[in-house]
Amino acid sequence: MSFKGQHILSVKQFDHDRITQVFDIARHMAPYASRKKRTKVLDGAILGNLFFEPSTRTRVSFGCAFNLLGGEVRETTGMESSALSKGESLFDTARVISSYSDVIAMRHPQAGSVAEFAEGSRVPVLNGGDGANEHPTQALLDLFTIERELASSGQHINGMHIAMVGDLKFGRTVHSLSKLLCLYRNIRLTLVSPAELAMPDDIISSLCNAGHQVVISDKLEGHLNADIVYQTRIQEERFPSKAEADQYRGKFRLNQEIYTRYCKSNTVIMHPLPRDSRIEANELDNDLNLNPNLAIFRQADNGILVRMALFALTLGVENIVKDYECAVPWYSNK
Ligand code: NCD
Repeated sequence: MSFKGQHILSVKQFDHDRITQVFDIARHMAPYASRKKRTKVLDGAILGNLFFEPSTRTRVSFGCAFNLLGGEVRETTGMESSALSKGESLFDTARVISSYSDVIAMRHPQAGSVAEFAEGSRVPVLNGGDGANEHPTQALLDLFTIERELASSGQHINGMHIAMVGDLKFGRTVHSLSKLLCLYRNIRLTLVSPAELAMPDDIISSLCNAGHQVVISDKLEGHLNADIVYQTRIQEERFPSKAEADQYRGKFRLNQEIYTRYCKSNTVIMHPLPRDSRIEANELDNDLNLNPNLAIFRQADNGILVRMALFALTLGVENIVKDYECAVPWYSNK
């Protein structure tokens, strides 16, 4: 079972063994991510980083992960600055960029677009988010984070209680994460959203078929005593207008006072980021920043490790990363 040369388009490609393999390699990437060591295992390799939709962390972390393995990154951002806006097909773009690159990471606003692109690509394509459909690398880093955070209090993914909150209709991160959770046992999922932004039925059915207990609510009260609270942003860009998204903003706010009152003392707070910190939304208040159970920045850091692992695997260098190590001569306080 090898990832070498494969596209990573959906979490459906993963089973327990594959997840374990990715996470083992991700853990071994920590010294490089923290600049204790360097590796040049991908020296000469080129990542085509194509982001046709807004992104900060995912785009930069794909790029940094590749750089940290010694590779180079060539990037294009925004639909308007790409030839797609001149009517070029995804297939043609893929044919060309894949001859310039060794691997491609791509984000695009249309569901299914990254898979369509992959058909024209001669190199592995990693899905960085295709519309409201999937975000497999985020789901893997979320799962990695959940496993790590729970382990610190002796808990496991099997048997946990997770509350997913916010825009569960358009949020691709919660779609992909839920599909991965179907591989585990005996999970309690509380899905909190406005009725209009509920988790798609097919995902709820998969969760129920996996034997999980699913509770659906349009109120946050009474549902915060979970092991993990996974908060999400209203995905304004998927709504027909800003005014429609505005109706739902700010409905499920979490701050330290609410946390103290309703969460468990060790409830882990996650969010794929960006959190919408505008006053009308403020889904995770800044007063949580000092809460040790706020895992959002550890979660984003874990993204580097997981993406490094995925690049190493798809390019077939996962076992020789150490052979290309060298020293870090510059100051680093990481
Ligand atoms: C998420 C996304 O783009 O789906 N962000 C991310 O990749 N970390 C979530 C969001 O934008 O709200």
